[in-house]
Amino acid sequence: MGYTLINGKFLASIIKEDLKIEIDSLRKKGIIPSLAVILVGENKASEKYVSFKEKTCQEIGIKSIVFKFSEDTQEEEITKLIDELNSNPSVNGILIQLPLPKHIDQNNLLLKIDPLKDVDGFTPYCLGKLLMDEPLFVPCTPKGILRMLDTYEIGIEGKNAVIVGRSIIVGKPLSLLLLKRNATVTICHSKTESLEEITRRADILCVAVGKPNFITEDMVKDGAVVIDIGINVSAYGKIIGDVDFERVKEKVSFITPVPGGVGPMTIAMLMENTIFATKLQKGLIE
Ligand code: GUN
Repeated sequence: MGYTLINGKFLASIIKEDLKIEIDSLRKKGIIPSLAVILVGENKASEKYVSFKEKTCQEIGIKSIVFKFSEDTQEEEITKLIDELNSNPSVNGILIQLPLPKHIDQNNLLLKIDPLKDVDGFTPYCLGKLLMDEPLFVPCTPKGILRMLDTYEIGIEGKNAVIVGRSIIVGKPLSLLLLKRNATVTICHSKTESLEEITRRADILCVAVGKPNFITEDMVKDGAVVIDIGINVSAYGKIIGDVDFERVKEKVSFITPVPGGVGPMTIAMLMENTIFATKLQKGLIE
């Protein structure tokens, strides 16, 4: 039995085409969606992600403004910028690229973002709404994963979904979304004992640990759906995921590639959230 590749890149391109049409109709009303991105320090991966976000904004007609701060910037300086962006009506979305340098209190900064501009869905308000099953902005990576499962008509209800990784960016919000869709959700992490026994029971296995080839074929059930959220650089400079793709693919029903799987969907969902924020702020959605 062969496997189906979940083509995130292609799906993201279709979503972006639809968003372009929506942006054109907003422009006819004199509205140009805009996204402010805050980047602190010189994290190479973060710089790359931010440049992808900027490029995609440009491609589809969202105005993007990137605010770059040096590694030693004090928290107060960033707080001041967030206050300004919150009260600037021409800014629709605010995103702080994570991780931040150690001396900055990440939660403290996220708390300052106006929830109506929180396109990443990381403010306590948006995370709380998600917990209450009344999502406002849904974090982009989990939202993109759900969109891929739905597009490929992969059933979620009643399935054993296992998530490896418990971050606020992926693991925790993804667990809530899958739970809302009636999956039986298990979250595993670095202290989980007998991890392979748990992953082997997964109908849907989602992995976000940041370790190349962390998931091997003996950890995966026959016919499982595997979602690889890892982005790592191999010894040869290639981008690779957390799953030993070449071996695992032979056992599964569906699998996402890296690159070309979850990554492009994350960016497409950020674009979607930015347009949703714009419409919300302009009174085009109740
Ligand atoms: N760092 C890694 N992924 C993300 C993301 O989706 N949003 C932000 N803000 N930072 C990240």
